[in-house]
Amino acid sequence: MPNPIIEKISSALEISRQKLREAKTENDIEAVRVDLFGRKGLMPALSKEMSAVPSEEKREVGNALNNAKNEIQTLIDEAKAAISSVSSSASDEIDVTLPGRTWKLGKKHPVTMVIDDCVSIFRRMGFIVAEGPEIETVYHNFDALNTPPEHPSRDPQDTFYFPDGRLLRTQTSPVQIRVMESRKPPIRIVAPGRVYRRDTPDATHGMNFHQIEGLYVDRNVSLSDLKSILLAFAHEMLGPSVGVRLRPHFFPFTEPSVEYDFSCIMCGGKGCRVCKNSGWLEISGAGMVDPNVFKTVGLDPETWSGYAFGMGIERIAMIRYRINDIRLLFENDVRFLKQF
Ligand code: DAH
Repeated sequence: MPNPIIEKISSALEISRQKLREAKTENDIEAVRVDLFGRKGLMPALSKEMSAVPSEEKREVGNALNNAKNEIQTLIDEAKAAISSVSSSASDEIDVTLPGRTWKLGKKHPVTMVIDDCVSIFRRMGFIVAEGPEIETVYHNFDALNTPPEHPSRDPQDTFYFPDGRLLRTQTSPVQIRVMESRKPPIRIVAPGRVYRRDTPDATHGMNFHQIEGLYVDRNVSLSDLKSILLAFAHEMLGPSVGVRLRPHFFPFTEPSVEYDFSCIMCGGKGCRVCKNSGWLEISGAGMVDPNVFKTVGLDPETWSGYAFGMGIERIAMIRYRINDIRLLFENDVRFLKQF
């Protein structure tokens, strides 16, 4: 007749095996563990009963108890592992009915788009791209461009100077000088880039904006060549109905100098709010390269002639995309940029 404790152990083992085989959740397993090993569970109770077991049976009963504890602990561990592998393989399954994740692609900034388009239009007309530094010498930014020492644009109120006397270029025109210093005519370049001015930002001014400079040097270049290239550019950029007009102006590095306008693309030249009823939109400056500039870079003004122009990129972007405040182009609010 085996000890009654051994009988209790074997029936508890039987039931636990069954329950663990059928366990579906962690809670099912936990319930078995608590029944057996919990504070009020079967195993602690049986351990207490050990003191009443006659000494000649102690060894047998003790062994049975330990074996049962070990077996059940192993079964509990195995049941737990089985459940977690089932749940993780479920999460690996791909639900093909779920909508896909869309990748948010970056976009080009409207200023970059206008620069790219300007460059591609001028490339097709035979111009190549030149570059110059944004930190310039006074010589390249002013002196070599025939700008007199008392010219107001040199004032520190208008120009950012470095302690060493260099400056942040106020225009892309110094690239003209650098190109003529390093290459022989014929020259046909455009130079897009950043420029800096000490302006108070408002709807039409920024301290940092972009220009694209153009320079053409060859024999017998005339003002009508300049006008035709500006007209061709305007047609490519804004459409075939846009007209160009030149107005007399002054720049130190061109003679004669002009400012040029494109006819208003909103009203077709009739007059509206955007063009302030004039029918024209101011773009920038241009002119025939001043003989003094040629002399400075060692070109004979009797042999060589040329035109130059500079355009404000933001100005073109504002016209093209109907943007009424230049600051929108610098603030980089994603809600604004997404629209292009
Ligand atoms: N650099 C001038 C400016 O920023 C624009 C300009 C005028 C450029 C006449 C030229 C030019 O090349 O010939 O206001």
